[in-house]
Amino acid sequence: MESTKYQFICRTCGHKIDGFGQWFAEGQKCPACNGKWVETKYTHGYLKLPDLINNRAGHPDSMFHYFDYLPLHDRNNIVSEGEGVIPVDHWKFLEDFALENYNLDLTVLAYRNDENPATGTFKDVAAAVVASVLKENGIQEYCVASTGNIANAFAHYLALAGISLSVFIPDDALKANEAGVGCYGQRVFRVMGDYSLAKKLCAEFSSRYNIPMSGGNIDPARVEAKKTQVFEWLRQLGYLPDVYIQALAGGTGPIAIQKGIEDIRHLKLFEKEPRYILVQPSKCNPMTMAWEQAKKEGFTEGWKQRFPILDSPRTCIPTLANGNPQTYPILSHLVHNTGGEFLTFDEDLHVAVARLVAFESSVRIGPAAAIAVGGFFEALRSGTLKSGEKVMINIGEGIQRAPELLEKMIYTTENVYTVDECLPFRRIDYRRKLYQPFLP
Ligand SMILES: Cc1ncc(COP(=O)(O)O)c(C=O)c1O
Ligand SMILES: [Zn+2]
Repeated sequence: MESTKYQFICRTCGHKIDGFGQWFAEGQKCPACNGKWVETKYTHGYLKLPDLINNRAGHPDSMFHYFDYLPLHDRNNIVSEGEGVIPVDHWKFLEDFALENYNLDLTVLAYRNDENPATGTFKDVAAAVVASVLKENGIQEYCVASTGNIANAFAHYLALAGISLSVFIPDDALKANEAGVGCYGQRVFRVMGDYSLAKKLCAEFSSRYNIPMSGGNIDPARVEAKKTQVFEWLRQLGYLPDVYIQALAGGTGPIAIQKGIEDIRHLKLFEKEPRYILVQPSKCNPMTMAWEQAKKEGFTEGWKQRFPILDSPRTCIPTLANGNPQTYPILSHLVHNTGGEFLTFDEDLHVAVARLVAFESSVRIGPAAAIAVGGFFEALRSGTLKSGEKVMINIGEGIQRAPELLEKMIYTTENVYTVDECLPFRRIDYRRKLYQPFLP
């Protein structure tokens, strides 16, 4: 089908590609230069967006509220369970903490991706759009290499659309990940090696059988899906945050947010735009390492191209175990341009973060989200936040994906034999201890 709604423009050579039909036919690359990073351009611009975010179009059922700005032609192909229209919460306990300990007057917002219906992660939005796009283009089989969340979300939404999925996971992937794919009758290949080997085998499988493989962090379906976050913030808040904090693996999140911002800049719907604070766990932080080195050297010529590649990173946050940061040139540009930061958070503290958040807000966050909230503490500690700023923390996942973290959150249990050992208590007495690891 010839696309009148949108086109892809190759970001390397400017060649125009006629949407997903041609994109899949060409093996998901630019036919002129083999480039894989394309920009999705909508023929009719964003004229309807002000109405959509003013809620005059009614309260949204899902991110497909923004159908006009997604790379899909026919609403009948939508595969959705109501994802992407999740609340932005106000986390006063973190504001109080910043004020008491750092004398900073912040607004702290939590973007509640744990409320997404399928996997309780921010991958649901990406998977809903990918499943819809595959359905529209008649693709019956798909493959992906994954350390966790994306595979689980794809497995769910592709199953809804009746599309087969093969997932390549590294040998140390958690049982919960394997189960979250296999339970839908989607196939798992547990690769006896690390994530890089899983990606390599997946690519070989893809070309041997001509089965499209997920295009990773710059996949246009994933970027377009996550771009809708910007529209949701404008719809719910009427402004964009000054600071956006997210746990970082490959960076689809920030790349997509920036795309959303660039797409609608001309509409003048916001005054300020966020700087990006991207947080890596301490045992897998190649982008932060590269950034620190570049800072030390004064951002000398070619700095964005210099980054380490970590073999088999041993982080205990498997979702963030991306040791080969191929997207660093894109992300470093974004962070540098917006006055942001790459930070590292001590991952040994992720359980402490999850306990504190559950204690104060009743939200049970997952391990990668604990790295993001940890990044907030690290940003305070390193003087990266300024008084008056509105800080958005992306709670990228809930606990549902990580039952092993929930077990580690146990801290109030006492083993008893008789009622004499059972005394009344006040939960507030735990508070001081919970904050202890984060005090300056
Ligand atoms: C909960 C959560 N947070 C953060 C990330 C990192 O996302 P990004 O691709 O934007 O680096 C992921 C996935 O990799 C995730 O599932
Ligand atoms: Zn090109």
